[in-house]
Amino acid sequence: MRIRRMQLTDLDQVMALEREAYGFPWTEQVFRDCLRVGYECRVVEAGGLDVAGYAVLSVGAGECHLLNLCVAPAVRRVGVGRAFLMAMLGKGRAGGALHAFLEVRPSNTGAIALYRTAGFERIGLRRGYYQAEGGREDALVFRRPLDDLAA
Ligand SMILES: CC(C)(COP(=O)(O)OP(=O)(O)OC[C@H]1O[C@@H](n2cnc3c(N)ncnc32)[C@H](O)[C@@H]1OP(=O)(O)O)[C@@H](O)C(=O)NCCC(=O)NCCS
Repeated sequence: MRIRRMQLTDLDQVMALEREAYGFPWTEQVFRDCLRVGYECRVVEAGGLDVAGYAVLSVGAGECHLLNLCVAPAVRRVGVGRAFLMAMLGKGRAGGALHAFLEVRPSNTGAIALYRTAGFERIGLRRGYYQAEGGREDALVFRRPLDDLAA
């Protein structure tokens, strides 16, 4: 697998994956804004796919926040997600972050399993954080110290 910077020209493929993965996908404008403000936006090439996944990380004030992580269905459960996640955390650490944070839906058991096995611990709950069918869904907040990663 190879990780590279997300380009505007990747957005068609990113949006196709985003719409497939989430019931309430980000709009293309959200990705454009993330690129514009300088968030760490990356895509991963794997399994012969030019865009096999993507991730967005904000870094600042000694923290980083994983805003999105998605792997194409065709290459799931072969380790791409974990390797990509760890690479993104490494970018956070290199940017001066001491902790990483993320939110995840309680119903997203696969992602929760990934985050737990990657060293994240649940530290809180944000009530009604996400849109959901017929209402709102809470978010679990996870945190991971980054002091084991090279700065
Ligand atoms: C969550 C996601 C990124 C995982 O990507 P992936 O490449 O399949 O993850 P990996 O293969 O590296 O999995 C690493 C570990 O995470 C756990 N895991 C990942 N997906 C899982 C699933 N569907 N069910 C149970 N455990 C899962 C397992 O412990 C797995 O290790 P194992 O395969 O040796 O059992 C991917 O399923 C995805 O893109 N989902 C849709 C988008 C999404 O929900 N993103 C997270 C938003 S918070």
